[in-house]
Parts: sequence; structure tokens; C-alpha cells
Amino acid sequence: MIFFSKLNPAATDPRLIVNREHERRWLSGSLQQYLGNNDPENGRAYCVSGGKGVGKSILTRRVLDELRQVHSATTVFIEVDCRRCQSRRTVVARIAQGLLKELNSLKVKPELLSTAHILATIANFDSAKLKIVHQHIVQHRRAARLAGERSLLNFLALNFDISFDRTEKQQKALEGDVRFDAHRLLGALIELFHDVRRQGLHIVVYLDNIDELDHAAYRSEERREAVRTESEGLLELYAAPIALVLNMRTYYTDVLPRAISKVRVLEPLAGDDMLELLRLRMREEPAEINEALANPECRDALAKLAGLAKTPLAFLTWFEFLCEQGAPHSDSMTEGLGRFARTHFAALPSGVLRSVAAAFPTYDSMISREQLLAACNGNEAVFSQVQQHQVVLPVDFWNPIEFMLDPLLHFMLPSDQAR
Ligand SMILES: Nc1ncnc2c1ncn2[C@@H]1O[C@H](COP(=O)(O)OP(=O)(O)O)[C@@H](O)[C@H]1O
Ligand SMILES: [Mg+2]
Repeated sequence: MIFFSKLNPAATDPRLIVNREHERRWLSGSLQQYLGNNDPENGRAYCVSGGKGVGKSILTRRVLDELRQVHSATTVFIEVDCRRCQSRRTVVARIAQGLLKELNSLKVKPELLSTAHILATIANFDSAKLKIVHQHIVQHRRAARLAGERSLLNFLALNFDISFDRTEKQQKALEGDVRFDAHRLLGALIELFHDVRRQGLHIVVYLDNIDELDHAAYRSEERREAVRTESEGLLELYAAPIALVLNMRTYYTDVLPRAISKVRVLEPLAGDDMLELLRLRMREEPAEINEALANPECRDALAKLAGLAKTPLAFLTWFEFLCEQGAPHSDSMTEGLGRFARTHFAALPSGVLRSVAAAFPTYDSMISREQLLAACNGNEAVFSQVQQHQVVLPVDFWNPIEFMLDPLLHFMLPSDQAR
């Protein structure tokens, strides 16, 4: 058995990227255009799209890391993973917190920091007594001295009746509740971005996994509509004076507004790139692991595995699993991968994976709902499990009538047709 000290198939260490030069240049060049433009009203939005595990996050992280090296003194970089957020509200709150943290480390003017504090504070409330809200934010009243337009403060006064102009007595006499709904909070965030930009700073916001606000929503029309409203609301950020960088699976991209037209779709990597990215990762493993893998049988098995894998995620996941059984070997690979499928999809009745995979002639086949249901012996409950465990993924999240096989199961296709 081989147990790795560092390897993690889902980790996206930007230093370990291979290839993608073209897409990196595109994203980096586009962002540099934004960073080189000092018009405080200027904003852009970019989307890196592609299938699950194809490399959207590692590519984006790499580009942002490189830009951070050069621009961190004058640019705020904020990253939010929507997978960990239940709603657009949470995403907005995380962005507000991220902005505050960055401004803190940039040592900006105290008035600006106080302004950012106010939004980070109210973003934590769903609804609250107006009096209580004022009690919380009076400590940031320095914000009222921010030079220039003070967009956020004006917005808060207009939309939520929050203001520093009241005397202490007036504040204590305040009645009523205030509700901080997602739409107006996002509006407030955009105003704060204006305040920050007018201080000569640039802002890059990276939203990863927007498609995972509610991944299972595609299976019910009602939830689909709800998550569409959430996502479209969030994407109104494109109107902010920031560089908005999105990562989104291709099946979700129908939600992109027309104004976000700069999209790049990542294609699968070639087998040689898979072997190279593995080599880079193995350099971080101890010598005895590298020795255990340094034999012709193992190299042969890895080349086959790289040929079967359509995504680095699938390749690394299979590789890790096989190694836990011993050094990969061509003779035992089919059996090992079979064990992987049974373990990874343990909740599914045996035989279902095989019959579902058999419904897909090639890795890029799209199969109708009816065909898949037939592969599940007409059993709706089993079909539901197949979707729940992501054995198949919809081709279009918003109109889930066709499905593709998850790349983790591509080895189940007849090998001469897998490519
Ligand atoms: N071009 C690449 N070079 C090196 N590793 C990659 C590359 N693309 C993807 N990976 C690796 O594959 C896995 C999935 O990549 P990730 O960026 O998380 O995909 P996505 O965001 O598209 O789901 C991670 O372990 C990542 O490090
Ligand atoms: Mg990702």
C-alpha cells in the first residue's frame, strides 16, 4: 500500500499547474487591462467555465496569485467559494468580510476602513431593530468623514434609514425594524466598492463554484427557479466597478447575463499533461513512495490511466485509490477501478453503475432521461439516487432532459471507445 503525505486530488495548489498557457494569458491579460485603467467607474466580468474537475479553480488561482505578487499594494483581492454558502446573502456577507480584511492589511485611511466595517456589520443581520443597528455601528461613525461622495452612507440612509446625523437622544428614540434583504445588501456592497475605488484602489472579486449554491436544485423545478433567482441576483455584481472573476460549470452558464460575454471554456487536458501534473505532485512526496512507483509496470498502468481520464480530478482520484491497494499495475487495474467505483458510490445497488455506464456509448455521449431510467430498470427511486450521487450530471442544469456520465466513471466505457 502507498499512502501519500501530501497528495490530495481535490486540492488546487496554484504552483502545481501544467499547461493552460493560453487561458492563463487570456485571464491575466484581461485582468491587467482592468488593473491598468484608473477610471473609478470601470468594471469587467470574466467567466472560466468547463466540466467538473477540469481545472477551473487551479487556473484562476494561479492567475490571481501572479497578479497579487505585482498589484497587492493597490488592489484588493477577494475570494469566496459559493459551495460553502447557503445563499446569495451569505456570499455578499463573505465578500464584505473579505473586503474589510484586505483593507485592514492595506492600511487604508481610517474613514474608509470604518465605512467597510459598517457593511460587514450589517451584513450579519437578517433583520434587526433600527435602534440596535445604530448601537452597533456608532463606533464606526468616523465613516461620515470620508472625503467625497460617501456612496455607501448615502445608500444606507436612503434604503435603510441608517444615518449618523442623529443625536444620541434621537437614536434612543428610534422605533421599528429594518430588514437587510439580499438585493439591497448587494446594492450596498456595490456602493461600498465605489467608495473604495475612489480612493484609488482596484478590486478583484473571485467567486468560485457559483453552480454549487444548491447543486441538487436542478432536480426540482421549484428549487431550480429559486436558485436561478439567487444566482442572477448575485451576478448583478457585474455592474460594480470591479473585476469580477467567475468559475462555473458549463452546464450552468445559461444563467450568465448577456453583459458577461467574456467566457472561456476549459477543454480536457491531454494524457501527457496528466502524467506531468502527477510528476509535479510526486516531487513533493518522500523518496520511498517515488521508488515504489518507479518500475515499468507502474509506468505502463499510469499511462493507461491518464489515457482514460478526461479530467485531472478523475485521474488523481483513481491514482490515489489504486495506490492505496499497492503500486498500480496494468494487470490489476480493471479490478482496482471496479473496487473504486463500488467504494465511491457505495450507496448505489450493485449492477446499477454498470448498466448506467453501459447506456453511454462514449465519454461525451448525452443520454435522455428516458434512456437512463430504462438503464435503472424503470425504477425512479434508483434513478433519483443515481442523480443524487452524481453518477450522471445534467447537460443543462436549467433544462435537465439529457445527462452525461461523471468523469470518475469513464473507465467503465469500452476502452476503445472511451476517447
Ligand atoms: N492544469 C492543471 N495542472 C495541474 N493540476 C490540475 C490542472 N487542472 C486541474 N488540476 C488538478 O485537478 C484537480 C481538479 O482541479 P480544479 O481546479 O479543482 O477543477 P474545477 O475547479 O474545474 O472543478 C485538482 O487537484 C487540481 O489541482
Ligand atoms: Mg473548482
